[in-house]
Amino acid sequence: MSESTPLLELRHVTAGYAQDIDVLREIQLRVDAGRITGLIGLNGAGKSTLVKTICGFLPPKTGSVHFRGEDISGVAPHRLIDLGICCIPQESSLFPYLSVQQNLMLPLLGRPKRFDAGMRARLQEVYELFPPLHEKRSQAAGSLSGGQQKQLEFAKAWLQQPTLCLIDEPSIGLSPKIAEEVFVWIERFTQANMGILLIDHNVRRVVRMSDRVCVLSLGRITAQGDAAEFRGNLHQQVQEWLGLHF
Ligand SMILES: Nc1ncnc2c1ncn2[C@@H]1O[C@H](COP(=O)(O)OP(=O)(O)OP(=O)(O)O)[C@@H](O)[C@H]1O
Ligand SMILES: [Mg+2]
Repeated sequence: MSESTPLLELRHVTAGYAQDIDVLREIQLRVDAGRITGLIGLNGAGKSTLVKTICGFLPPKTGSVHFRGEDISGVAPHRLIDLGICCIPQESSLFPYLSVQQNLMLPLLGRPKRFDAGMRARLQEVYELFPPLHEKRSQAAGSLSGGQQKQLEFAKAWLQQPTLCLIDEPSIGLSPKIAEEVFVWIERFTQANMGILLIDHNVRRVVRMSDRVCVLSLGRITAQGDAAEFRGNLHQQVQEWLGLHF
């Protein structure tokens, strides 16, 4: 993989749930190592569908998904972890009846070699960073508060040290304080050189944190570029979405 090869690249991806209805059309997008690509768009634009397409839940009908230069279109979702890809989905990825610790360890199922000294140290680290997860490590994940469940999702991803993390609406439904913590975690992920695809309804925050921004509208990328280009005219973009711009 040369230095200019994107960590993740979507080439002309068209995808949808029904055979004759395309939710995403001709999507071209990239995420680089240690950088954030922010994806913004109105409800129903297709943002989560894009995540599902990258993760292999919804294989592209046309076009392709490349990870570190390799075509991974339609990859079996259980292979993602071995490739170094984690997803923190909009809906929970937790098993509510399993304990906090069992949820943290779930990606290691069938991969005993990954439970090495580094993993043990990181487990210790996440328990120090999130004392409630340590306190409640034997309790069912479903008994945690919404904020604690989100901490568990991030802790689970951090343990795996992926090179790419897809993060869909991490702050939705959280108190402002916990939402703030979530964004600090995302910064931490990028400092560890992970590439991030970040989707969040807090458009200003996404634009401020991202290196690149993509605007998805009715399943198409209608604008994309360096985040700096968006900081000036964000208001105009939002006005256009609301139909207020003439
Ligand atoms: N499982 C599904 N089967 C059929 N259509 C679906 C399914 N999930 C989503 N859709 C449709 O696909 C379109 C895009 O939905 P998607 O969830 O990707 O949007 P989104 O941009 O993530 O929205 P939000 O901001 O509300 O999370 C919507 O019209 C939605 O109704
Ligand atoms: Mg969504």
